[in-house]
Formats: sequence, C-alpha cells, structure tokens
Amino acid sequence: MEKMKLLSVIGNRPQFVKLAPIIRAIAEHNSLTENRVISHKVVHTGQHYSFKMNRIFFDDLELPKPDFYLGVGSGPHGWQTGKMLARVEKILLDEKPDVVLVYGDTNTTLAGALAAAKLHYPLAHIEAGLRSFVRSMPEEINRVLTDHCADFLFCPTGTAISNLRNEGFVEILNNGALIGVQDTNIPLSREQIPVVINVGDVMYDSLLMSMGVAEKKSRILDEFALEPKGYYLVTIHRAENTDDPTRVKSIIDALHDIDDKKPILFPVHPRTQNVLRRQGGYHLDDSRVRFTDPVSYCDMLVLEKNSAVVLTDSGGVQREAFLLGVPCVVLREETEWVELLEYDSMKIGGVQSQSVASAIGSLNKQNQEGINADDHVLGDGKAAARIVKLLAQVRTSSDID
Ligand code: UD1
Ligand code: UDP
Repeated sequence: MEKMKLLSVIGNRPQFVKLAPIIRAIAEHNSLTENRVISHKVVHTGQHYSFKMNRIFFDDLELPKPDFYLGVGSGPHGWQTGKMLARVEKILLDEKPDVVLVYGDTNTTLAGALAAAKLHYPLAHIEAGLRSFVRSMPEEINRVLTDHCADFLFCPTGTAISNLRNEGFVEILNNGALIGVQDTNIPLSREQIPVVINVGDVMYDSLLMSMGVAEKKSRILDEFALEPKGYYLVTIHRAENTDDPTRVKSIIDALHDIDDKKPILFPVHPRTQNVLRRQGGYHLDDSRVRFTDPVSYCDMLVLEKNSAVVLTDSGGVQREAFLLGVPCVVLREETEWVELLEYDSMKIGGVQSQSVASAIGSLNKQNQEGINADDHVLGDGKAAARIVKLLAQVRTSSDID
C-alpha cells in the first residue's frame, strides 16, 4: 500500500486549534482510502508551554501527544526562531516527510517553513496570503516569508488569494475566481506548484468540531456569574499593543470609559500579564474589568458566544466572534480579515476611548443570530478535508523513484 508522510510543525495556542481539524481529516481520509494512507507526525516547538497556553488545548481538542517536543520556550525573535529552525531541521533530516505543514504566522511557522524549504521538502502553508501591510508586525514578516517559501498556499479568504496574486503568484486551482471555496479534484504534478487555493478557514472547522462539546462541558458563565449577553469579553496580546506601555494603558482606560455598566471579562495572555505586572498591576483590583488567566478553548467558545460584544486584537477571536454572530471591535488600526468588516458586525476600534466607543456604537448588533454557514466569506467549515484531499494527490519521492 502506498504511504504518504505528512509532518506538521506547531507550537502555540492558535496552532493547536488549527491542527485539530487536520488530524481529524487525515483520520477520515485513512478510513476511506484503499491505496494512499497518510502517516502524520507532529512536531511541537514548545513556543507555548504554560498549562493554560498548551496542555489545556490538547485536553479540550483531544489532540494526541506530539511525536516530538522541542522545548524551545520564550526569548527574543532571533534566538527563538533560530533554536526552532535548528531543531526542526534535525527532525526533518531523520523523518524525510513528503510534505511539511505549517500554520498561521508565528515564529514557529517561519522556523518550520525555513527548515523545510532549505532542505527541499515540499511546504504547505495553512492560512496563506493574509496581509496587514504593516511590516513592523512580527506576524507580517513571518507570513510573507512563509508564503514565498511555500509550495502549497492554502488561503482562508478571497482577499488572501488577491494578496498573493498581487505578489506575483499564479493561481492554478482557482480558475480565476477570486472569491469562493474551491474543490480539489485536480491531479497534481511537481510542475504545477506553487499551488494557491482558497479552501476556507480551518478555524471554522475547529469551531464546528468543538462548539457542541464546549456547551456541554463549560461552566465558565456560572464561575464568573455572567448572564448571556450581559458582559463584554476582551483579549489583547499583540506586540504592537503590549510592547508600548502607553497603548496598554490606553486600552485599559478605553475599557473603563465604555458607557455601559456591563461587566468586562478579560482573560489575560501571559505576554499581557507580564506588561500589566511591570506597570504595577495597573487597575488589577478593578471592579469593572475582571482580569483572569487565559481560559481553555471550550470556555472561550462559550464566553464568545454569550458575550454582548467581543473586543480583541486576536486574529482567531475576530473570526470566532463573526462565526458565532457576535459583534466585535478590533483593538487595532487594521485587520487582515477585511471581509468581516463588510457585515458591520465587526468594526476597527483602535485603542483610544473615543474610537473604541464610536466602534461599539456603530456595530450592527442585529447579526447576533449567527451567520448562514453556506454563504459566507470564511468558507463552509470543511477546509481541512480539502487540504488533506489535495495533499493526498501529491506525487511523492517514492512515486517518482
Ligand atoms: C505568539 C505569536 C503571535 C500569536 C500568539 C498567539 C510570534 C512572534 N508571536 O505571540 O503571532 O498571535 O503567539 O497567542 O510568534 N509566555 C508564557 N507562557 C507561555 C508562552 C509565553 O508565560 O506558554 C510568556 C513569556 O513571557 C513570553 C511571552 O509570553 O516571553 C510572549 O510569548 P511569545 O511566544 O514570544 O509570543 P506571543 O505573545 O505568545
Ligand atoms: N483562546 C482561548 N483562550 C483564551 C484566549 C484565546 O482558548 O483565553 C483561543 C481562541 O478562542 C482562538 C485562539 O485561542 O481559538 C486564538 O489564539 P490567540 O488569540 O492567542 O492568537 P491569534 O489568533 O491572534 O494568532
């Protein structure tokens, strides 16, 4: 029986969420295929390691233990990325995968991409083509470099496709259509790559997989005595917001200035916890804003679904708010998920009291019933199956020998 070897490189919170549907799609593929079984190994770089940023996601998402744990941990960009690169490279040399998969736009993504590309292993980038056009964001550098090393660029949106087209990529599988999720019944040869295709957003798949379980399992609303639609939910962790103490202060002030008495729950990312601690626990004893540790994926989905408004700088949380039909204010000056702005259920809020208040005021709160799964801009929640189907058709070195 033919075997194809995939290897995923992951290491942080959003990547655990994105990995789950890929693992499920591979299992489904293997249960149906007669001839091409996929073996899949997972390398965890250790970029996130605290229980509430790591292990808790493996439990909630029922992820298997990674095959390799690199234990890199936290540090400056060059140090962290370099250590990951050296350690991933060693594993690739031993494992010789047919395709390496990387996810999103973090230092783990870039390290996996560089290691694969330099060793000439075909590279698949899940969540390709997103751009903020802000080069000072570490994520923007990671995305651009990863895309330009990749052989398979799995885009989540039509805008991601046009961004790549503007950078000179020729789209092979999309037949010229800029919007719309594409099917993958096309045999591939090495000559056709790089392949650029809109498969939809894998985070939608994850949400569909976990929402039912989350609603059964989570007790988070009771824990914090929150009423459905009776509170705001906040997350911030972007370097652009947390590296500058005046921006952090501005965001916390803006939360206090929201003209509504609803409580505000703020599960705080460790990067932001460090900053708040350094700033002398700014407002930490606050009765209006409730600071807490990061929560599990299931708890987060339930918190998002039941909140009156989500305020966030997270890419994942923006999409989940949209998918759950919850109004969302982006605590940044731009977003990579521009399609979501068209619905008026998401607004750019910046970080000043006035701009945040005005964004909340102009939100379309009618969207709270949820978005019709068949016709929206993040696809149909079947992205992982498309990715696996396409990769299963790739000719491997054993086919060529
Ligand atoms: C990283 C990604 C960011 C992504 C985010 C998801 C990069 C450059 N950034 O940001 O794109 O949106 O993950 O959450 O890759 N820390 C802990 N425990 C942990 C992990 C981190 O305490 O398990 C603390 C450390 O003090 C560390 C800081 O958080 O220095 C930042 O962690 P790091 O992985 O460098 O970046 P993130 O802000 O998590
Ligand atoms: N998330 C979570 N608990 C939290 C905050 C976020 O489970 O306390 C989940 C969230 O639901 C989403 C993912 O983490 O699935 C997003 O990760 P993050 O915001 O860290 O990174 P980004 O998406 O911005 O890269």
